[in-house]
Amino acid sequence: MTVTSVDYTHLATASGLVLAVTIVYYLHRHYWADSCLPLPPSPPGEPILGHLRMIPTVHPEYQYAKWGQQYDTDILYFKVLGRPMVVLNSVEAARELLEKRGANSADRPRFVLFEVMGWGITLTFLRWSSPRFKLHRRLLQQSFTPTACKPYRDIQTEEARRAVGAILRNPHNWEVLLRQFSTAVVLRIGFGISVQQYDDPYVKMAIDVEEATGKGGVPAASVVDFFPLLRYIPTVVAERFRLLHPLVHARRTKPSIQQLHDAPWDATEPSIRAGTASQPSFILTHLGQYLRNQAQGRPNEASIADLKGAAGAISIAGGNTTWSTLIICILNLMLNPKIQARAQAELDQVLGTDDETGHPTRLPTFDDRPRLPYLENIMRETTRWAPLSPVGVPHATLQDDSYKGYRIPRGSVVYANAWAMSRDTRYYSSPEEFDPDRFVAVSDGGKGEALPEGPFGFGRRICPGQHLALAGMYIAIATLLATMDVKCPLDEDGNLLKPRVSFTNGLSGVPDGFECVLTPRSGRVGELLDLDK
Ligand code: HEM
Repeated sequence: MTVTSVDYTHLATASGLVLAVTIVYYLHRHYWADSCLPLPPSPPGEPILGHLRMIPTVHPEYQYAKWGQQYDTDILYFKVLGRPMVVLNSVEAARELLEKRGANSADRPRFVLFEVMGWGITLTFLRWSSPRFKLHRRLLQQSFTPTACKPYRDIQTEEARRAVGAILRNPHNWEVLLRQFSTAVVLRIGFGISVQQYDDPYVKMAIDVEEATGKGGVPAASVVDFFPLLRYIPTVVAERFRLLHPLVHARRTKPSIQQLHDAPWDATEPSIRAGTASQPSFILTHLGQYLRNQAQGRPNEASIADLKGAAGAISIAGGNTTWSTLIICILNLMLNPKIQARAQAELDQVLGTDDETGHPTRLPTFDDRPRLPYLENIMRETTRWAPLSPVGVPHATLQDDSYKGYRIPRGSVVYANAWAMSRDTRYYSSPEEFDPDRFVAVSDGGKGEALPEGPFGFGRRICPGQHLALAGMYIAIATLLATMDVKCPLDEDGNLLKPRVSFTNGLSGVPDGFECVLTPRSGRVGELLDLDK
């Protein structure tokens, strides 16, 4: 059979048609179809301002959860001063949009105010498009895998014992001492500095910076973040307008943030260059590699500014967060004496007890952790019961997307409402209750409820420090419970004074200050903690 030119023409026309239909189908599926979809449900907004005045400035996570129920949806849409915003109220929505389609949601909105403060080269605030993002993500992720965290265990153990020893001497100061613990750990691990026993200047510097940063308000939410050109307004003018006060604050705090990057670095760098530094740290590993490459004429991907920025990220992202989680744990141990007693009984059994006092004969170490499943569940329940960052650190989308038939415009700021996820009654029976047993497998007589997802974020921006944080938390709580009892204070008539539980607002929800009575479990505690050393 011969093929004529007419057949060729038909073949070409048919192929052209198939190609055109394929292109149209593709465009329809990926672009046009999405752009025809409705936006996710939202309460009606106002012209220009959009939902600006409707979104509560204090604890928006509660209102987002209520709106989710009202509109029967796990995804909400808002527009604030022209910027699209999406809130995800379920683990399924977060898994789908932030994990499965993570490549599209790994961006962050621009944090202009934090840039003014000097947090420009900090992973948390780096945009996806920044050439530094992938480098910093890799540097930090590889440095804190479960295996990479092991060399830091001695530092965490030493600091936990030092902190509990100090609490024994000065129990009223327990909150401050735990804060010093968390900050000292990240400073030592990040920058490799040695921390003094009392009132360490670097620890004070880091705490001052944490506070200054916290006062910068919710990231990406100031007027300067919405209108970046305002960052150039002179301070004398900005001082006159309340809305611009965060800008004035950012400029004032910039030197202290710069100092936190420079001073600990300057203190350790010479010993690393001289080859005499021995304490494991992020900069010992990475500056060490940098210097070896330099000596052998090999190129370095990371600059000194990158390494300083990454070490600074460890200290700003890791100190306050670990401290706040410890406080939430202590609050619940104090409010639930039975849970506390069970955790102590578990510790006593693993550590071995003194016949006379019935209390542990030694302090916990990391080797004990696998044999303390109840304590592990207490830590999990702590992160579920009060996710530290209730609406997470915002992600941003790079392209148009869709979910459950709703359109998500490109450039949307995406909040994962970890608080709503922790209260999802499909997964958690009585979610307000602090119940470490909820995670015990059904086959072991437990409820087999889902492990918390969300307290450390999602997808390509998930917290790279989570294993380090949980390790620090483990050793601090285990050391505290092995040696001390945590109790509610009593009023004049001997009644328990239970604190009213409330949380600070903003990026991290720390419980508002409360009183707590910490007493040694036995007369031997000081000896165990080696107080006389
Ligand atoms: C209990 C303590 C901690 C909690 C609850 C916590 C929680 C979080 C959350 C919710 C995020 C945002 C994730 C997302 O955007 O999806 C985050 C990011 C981050 N965390 Fe943590 N964190 C803790 C401790 C630490 C520690 C000890 C470090 C030190 C290495 C650290 C370093 C970071 C960094 C660098 C980011 C930014 C990641 C990025 O933007 O790619 N965190 N953390």
